[in-house]
Amino acid sequence: MSTTATVTEAAPAPSPVLKLNSSAANEQTSSSPATQPYRYSHLLPHFSQDHYPPLEPFEHVDPGHRALAREREAIANGTIAEGSTPLPSFLRSPNVTLSEITPNLGVEVSGVSLSQLDDAARDDLALLVARRGLVIFRNQQEFIDSSPEAYKEWGRYFGRLHIHPTSGHPEGHPEIHLVYRDENTTFNFEREDSISTLSWHSDVSYELQPPGLTTFFLIAQPHARGEGLEESFSGGDTLFTSQVAALKRLSPEFVEFLRGLKAVHSGFEQAAYSRAGNRGGIVRRDPVEHIHPLIRRHPVTGDEALYVNRQFTRRIVNLKREESAEAILRLLYDHIDKSGDHQARLKWSPYTVALWDNRVTAHSAIVDFKDGKQRRHGCRITPQAERPIPAKEGLKLD
Ligand SMILES: [Fe+2]
Repeated sequence: MSTTATVTEAAPAPSPVLKLNSSAANEQTSSSPATQPYRYSHLLPHFSQDHYPPLEPFEHVDPGHRALAREREAIANGTIAEGSTPLPSFLRSPNVTLSEITPNLGVEVSGVSLSQLDDAARDDLALLVARRGLVIFRNQQEFIDSSPEAYKEWGRYFGRLHIHPTSGHPEGHPEIHLVYRDENTTFNFEREDSISTLSWHSDVSYELQPPGLTTFFLIAQPHARGEGLEESFSGGDTLFTSQVAALKRLSPEFVEFLRGLKAVHSGFEQAAYSRAGNRGGIVRRDPVEHIHPLIRRHPVTGDEALYVNRQFTRRIVNLKREESAEAILRLLYDHIDKSGDHQARLKWSPYTVALWDNRVTAHSAIVDFKDGKQRRHGCRITPQAERPIPAKEGLKLD
């Protein structure tokens, strides 16, 4: 990240095990679909038979630019000091607590309702997420209990909403991507043939214009199953890693070599997985693959980030197989796998909303709860951003 000075008001980290007495919170995380009505049944996965045409290119205008312009103006009139990174005004309140999750990635916020943010605050938020990679907001009942229409209005502020080609969505709202599992079924990837459930990726990186600021929240999550732990939650954490920090760990000579490379990202395998009858068995848009730079530049912060992931990146253009898959990509995937130096682990609690910048981070679910057959249900709002900008000026992407 370009700054670690954003967060100046530290607050204690949340308890690792959250005890809840609120009946509303317990209902939000109901894990027994067979025994009680489900409060979020309107958000259950629906697999429409619709078929969509290819996505059209569009011009993305990142809201973070406006925030940065205001910040620069404030520096120019002396309101803020040159070289400082002030807290956005919507976070400057005695009710707001902030804690940095790690020096390189993430900040956690409480005392702010996302539903109450005006346009200027949303601009500031976009810049904050770009700089910190991951921003976690706790206590967002107002946001989560709003409506799919409100989720979409929120997302559209940050970019054109992506419609996932294969996932389930709430009926009538294909722009809301769902992850879901309960005692009967699952609509997530299973990884029975691997020694780890980790699968680091940036969402739908095979698109020409992959997502930028992404919003995700759980509305049901697994309960702990140990004796006396019935009111706490355990399992299904999400791991994030900074692809900016990952790049900074590499030697300058190697980074210079990587800047000249580009790779193919493919959605074909994901579509084939659905066509084989998994995950709802629907492919609503023909799969695509696109070429992206190995190192991309964030349009607002200018940060350079590694942009490969094991889930969707297939090969490096113009390199031979041994050079591409067995040397460079393997090295970079191993580097991401071992990125504990710049990871953040999000332990979900009721009414938590996570925002990340998909351009400069990667993430992975942790499927450590599958034996419990409890409900886990999440919604993702996924605005697309610009076509990845090569860190190396003039790099041709074809
Ligand atoms: Fe993802």
